Amino acid sequence: MDRDELRALQLDRLRGTLRHAYEHVPLYRRKFDAADVRPEDCRTLEDLARFPFTTKADLRDSYPYGMFAVPLDQVRRLHASSGTTGQPTVVGYTERDLETWAEVVARSIRAAGGRPGHKVHVAYGYGLFTGGLGAHYGAERAGCTVIPASGGMTSRQVRLIVDLEPEIIMVTPSYMLTLLDEFERQGVDPRGTSLRVGVFGAEPWTEAMRAEIEERFAIDAVDIYGLSEVMGPGVAQECVETKDGLHVWEDHFLPEVVDPLTDEVLGEGERGEVVFTSLTKEALPVIRYRTRDLTRLLPGTARPAFRRMEKVTGRCDDMIIIRGVNVFPSRIEELVLATPGIAPHFRIEVSRRGRLDHMAVFAEAREGFTDPALRAAAAASLADGVKEGAGVSAEVTVVDPGTLERSVGKIRRVADLR
Ligand code: DLL
Repeated sequence: MDRDELRALQLDRLRGTLRHAYEHVPLYRRKFDAADVRPEDCRTLEDLARFPFTTKADLRDSYPYGMFAVPLDQVRRLHASSGTTGQPTVVGYTERDLETWAEVVARSIRAAGGRPGHKVHVAYGYGLFTGGLGAHYGAERAGCTVIPASGGMTSRQVRLIVDLEPEIIMVTPSYMLTLLDEFERQGVDPRGTSLRVGVFGAEPWTEAMRAEIEERFAIDAVDIYGLSEVMGPGVAQECVETKDGLHVWEDHFLPEVVDPLTDEVLGEGERGEVVFTSLTKEALPVIRYRTRDLTRLLPGTARPAFRRMEKVTGRCDDMIIIRGVNVFPSRIEELVLATPGIAPHFRIEVSRRGRLDHMAVFAEAREGFTDPALRAAAAASLADGVKEGAGVSAEVTVVDPGTLERSVGKIRRVADLR
């Protein structure tokens, strides 16, 4: 499909989605009415900008089923977001939604280099989290053999990888690092396994982390993006041929990037918050859903019909403000990984000292990096890097290997004690 054909399809589906939402979800009807727009006012894709945004708060306020657009007996599956802050949100899927989801994840696996007959080790958590089951049905749809390992029981994961010889692993990048420790603990060479490709997502990870994982495991590492409110994993996927950001499966999800402060729609190439409108969802259509994820849109490359989104390196809400300076944990990750002797395990603690913000970074030494003088020098060099690269001073402590808490799924690197 070329771009013109795709845009025609998007407009057709968008108009259908707006109608479906307006007719079946009282909250959308109220919001559209208040903004004085009707579904039929959408005559071009650009007209979408006239419609109101949807936020996490809307979903929370209509917990659990208030925003469903179909009767509950047509809903085949529920998932829920982790709800780290306050009320969780519940999302639902009709049979056709589950088909669509499997299809976009299958496409993602194919773009990552997966082929029928490959074995896919799924170490995303199975359960209310969308990662495990989302990856699972997509891998089956792609014609692969699924190993539904789920998260946790790390020593067994290594055993399964060695014995069952999967070509592909799907897991959070932080849990992949936990697996790395375990390979080493069991004396198994992580570069010597059957794994060829890792499909990593559900949390931000940097190019520096990609280089680390690719080198330590001798695999290709590609990025998969998604969020439960929009579907789950498989909204966008990085292609293994180019590794240059994630192609958005735009026949199902229409992306916009907006200025998070002014709400203005930004042009291609401009950085802001990515907003999605679902184009085919039945149970839970989302109109201009504010993700809080920061990125920018770029033209397609390996899959030319689809635009790419740059790797998401942070969210509006995980930005730490230290004495007025904005710091993203991903920036610290890059700096940690650029420091010789330091492992990719770190933790940031923000506290108040008197009336001032204080940032402490704890970073692990690599195995064998034991000399106290060298460790002190590495700490000083990381502190300089943070000062220069992130614009804040931090107290850096290099700790022994294996002392920081390991991830079993999505990692939380920042403890804000203020
Ligand atoms: O994390 C869905 C998913 C599962 C994606 C497995 C990829 C792989 P939620 O739990 O709703 O859904 O969390 C969604 O996670 O808004 C981002 O902030 C973050 N996120 C997801 N994928 C990426 C990624 C799943 N590739 C939230 N890079 C999103 C950076 C990501 N952040």
